[in-house]
Amino acid sequence: MDILVTGGCGFIGSNFVRHVLGAHAQDRVINLDLLTYAGNPANLADVEADYPDRYELVRGDVNDREMCLPLMERAQAVAHFAAESHVDRSIDGSAQFLTTNVLGTHNLLECARLAWSGAAENSFVYVSTDEVYGALELDSTERFVETRPLAPRNPYSASKAAADHLAMAFYYTHGLPVKITRCSNTYGPYQFPEKLIPLMIANIVANQALPMYGDGLYVRDWLYVLDNCRASDAVMRSGRAGQAYNVGGDAERANLEVVRRLVELVCVRLDLDVDERLGLITHIADRPGHDRRYATDAGKLGRELGIEPVTSFENGLASTVDWYLANQDWCDQVTSGAYQDYYRQMYGSRLEEAGRDGKPEA
Ligand code: NAD
Ligand code: DAU
Repeated sequence: MDILVTGGCGFIGSNFVRHVLGAHAQDRVINLDLLTYAGNPANLADVEADYPDRYELVRGDVNDREMCLPLMERAQAVAHFAAESHVDRSIDGSAQFLTTNVLGTHNLLECARLAWSGAAENSFVYVSTDEVYGALELDSTERFVETRPLAPRNPYSASKAAADHLAMAFYYTHGLPVKITRCSNTYGPYQFPEKLIPLMIANIVANQALPMYGDGLYVRDWLYVLDNCRASDAVMRSGRAGQAYNVGGDAERANLEVVRRLVELVCVRLDLDVDERLGLITHIADRPGHDRRYATDAGKLGRELGIEPVTSFENGLASTVDWYLANQDWCDQVTSGAYQDYYRQMYGSRLEEAGRDGKPEA
């Protein structure tokens, strides 16, 4: 099978490409990636070397019809990961989120409609997010199920929900074999350090403040990236067209708990003082419209496709810390240059308000 992966130089996409090529010896992957700040070809340097005949990188935009249409004609399946993926950036400015996430997805759906007419055995996976469901309360035990109406609450999730609706509309209207994954917070190797876990690991190592939004009691359901990749692959091959599948890690944790555990894991490995590093936790002004809790019921994926997460949060977090500590060069490379400007803009004044060196936990 020839698979068009979009955003394959990003975090989940690069893990997915490596997984697919390793697990399916007959498959070939075309990776279409614009190489934005989040896309890094170095994430797949090993893949380029290991599979020179089965892997191809094409630098391009998912909005580029002339480029995407011939790629779609070559493919029997699409795994569409490309997106602007960071909520905080969407709060600062959302136009690019609409262009990439909504219009870009629409362009790919159109290309598939044109290129695949009548090919019901083909497969178009749109990678959505559990954020499209909105937020749950801390004191409830409710979890998101696929039949829940979409109710996104920030510009990023609104753009993902718009594309989610479009993807389903192309199934109903044009019979396009669309499948949707709605995954929870994913973590693991190659994640850009704007997201909670890699950002905290980098700051613990660098002895910098650990910026905790608000009270730090926000809850996410943490999913190890390889479990996400196995699920996405299964949905692409065996999922039913016109269906959405939640993908979760069965690991609800509050942010404070996650960060405290990261401090312990890093400190044990680098022989650092745990209490001193815990003192770097700094409560800063909250994210506007911050969703309190996400919790995912991924039962449908298990029942229909036999896929469940196999990595415990404890093991996943430990191997993630090990990967970042063993790949300091990668971290240094992606946190140089523009990242420093981003960091100052995102955190500078909020950290200053909280006390420049960070306000230790009471
Ligand atoms: P990422 O930000 O790490 O990577 C995004 C990739 O898309 C980058 O390689 C970037 O260069 C590429 N890209 C951006 N705009 C493009 C364009 N116009 N054309 C072509 N390529 C473009 O993202 P991620 O965290 O790996 O997330 C991948 C997908 O999974 C996204 O659709 C995201 O919404 C979804 N998702 C992510 C998570 C998570 O926790 N990371 C959870 C649920 C869903
Ligand atoms: O739920 C799926 C979503 O998970 C994906 O669709 C998004 O692409 C992905 O970015 C992620 O969104 P979140 O906003 O939940 O992830 P983030 O890592 O940005 O934040 C996780 C939690 O940690 C959230 O409650 C905000 C908080 N946080 C985050 C950062 C970066 C902090 O307290 N401090 C921080 O510096």
